[in-house]
Amino acid sequence: MGWTADDIPSLEGCVALVTGANSGLGLESVRALAARQSTVILACRSRSRAESAKTRLIEEGLSRLDLLDLDLADLVSVEQAADTVRERYGQLDLLLNNAGVMAPPRTLTAQGHELQFGVNHLGHMALTQKLLPLMAQRPDPRVVTVTSGAQYFGRIRWDDPSWSMGYDRYGAYGQSKLANVMFALELDGRLREQNSHVRSLAAHPGIARTDLQPTALASGGNRFEALAYRLMDPIFQSAAMGALPQLHAATAATAQGGEHYGPGGLAGLRGHPALCRIAPAALDPEQRQRLWQLSEQLIGD
Ligand SMILES: NC(=O)c1ccc[n+]([C@@H]2O[C@H](COP(=O)([O-])OP(=O)(O)OC[C@H]3O[C@@H](n4cnc5c(N)ncnc54)[C@H](OP(=O)(O)O)[C@@H]3O)[C@@H](O)[C@H]2O)c1
Repeated sequence: MGWTADDIPSLEGCVALVTGANSGLGLESVRALAARQSTVILACRSRSRAESAKTRLIEEGLSRLDLLDLDLADLVSVEQAADTVRERYGQLDLLLNNAGVMAPPRTLTAQGHELQFGVNHLGHMALTQKLLPLMAQRPDPRVVTVTSGAQYFGRIRWDDPSWSMGYDRYGAYGQSKLANVMFALELDGRLREQNSHVRSLAAHPGIARTDLQPTALASGGNRFEALAYRLMDPIFQSAAMGALPQLHAATAATAQGGEHYGPGGLAGLRGHPALCRIAPAALDPEQRQRLWQLSEQLIGD
């Protein structure tokens, strides 16, 4: 039997923040962490969707659930959210950079970055940097950034990360998910250099039944894409299974900084958490540092 949510140790006294907590893997992560007595901050862009998720979880008997407004497509909102966490809690043990958007028509964030690069990568990087000082004071602090198998075909467009030319919906998703794993590894290296005990890990869910694919289809898909998803349907695993790699990275005593977890079965698409392959670009320190510098510049602009 592989690792399951029942293996999560007690999280009494912990504060966890999950981005994109109202749906899919985020909601499952909240459910599992709250069941182990963590206080969980549901960081969501829609207050009403966050309220509905919280109501559902309370009806299931869970408690210690708080809501936080966070729109990762606006770095001002990211800054306000981090300020609120600092003022309201003064501590943070687990940060799950989970929220994501896939394959929309080309859209820009409030600061003018391509939406997937902006939400999936830049928003999470900015949030993490603002929350790290709160985490450093805790006994076992971890940042888990959710990537995807799309990292394996992703490529960073160094000269045009916002796709001002030749926008490709899935190419931009691949870029953002490669950036997620590059960020997670680079952050872990930097934390070690600073002798910090905060750990940074990456995780991906394989292929899980959530709102991600239906939303992508509805916002810009064609009938071939719809057919492809229908054909893949039998291999989709539940959102609860898909959330296990990120929960394992966040809570398993054996999980180490710089590791990358995903499903261990069916070519990494399904199954219980296991260490998994990292895209070559993310293993290249020069490319990671280059992305870090580019991202800092874009966040700072
Ligand atoms: N499902 C899969 O097969 C799969 C595979 C590989 C990787 N992933 C990754 O898993 C993560 C979770 O996705 P999911 O599958 O659970 O999809 P989901 O059900 O669509 O959940 C995505 C979450 O992200 C939130 N979000 C989107 N834009 C946001 C923004 N600007 N600010 C704050 N939150 C925002 C969504 O909020 P709204 O509900 O308000 O839109 C939602 O809560 C993503 O990083 C995704 O790339 C999923």
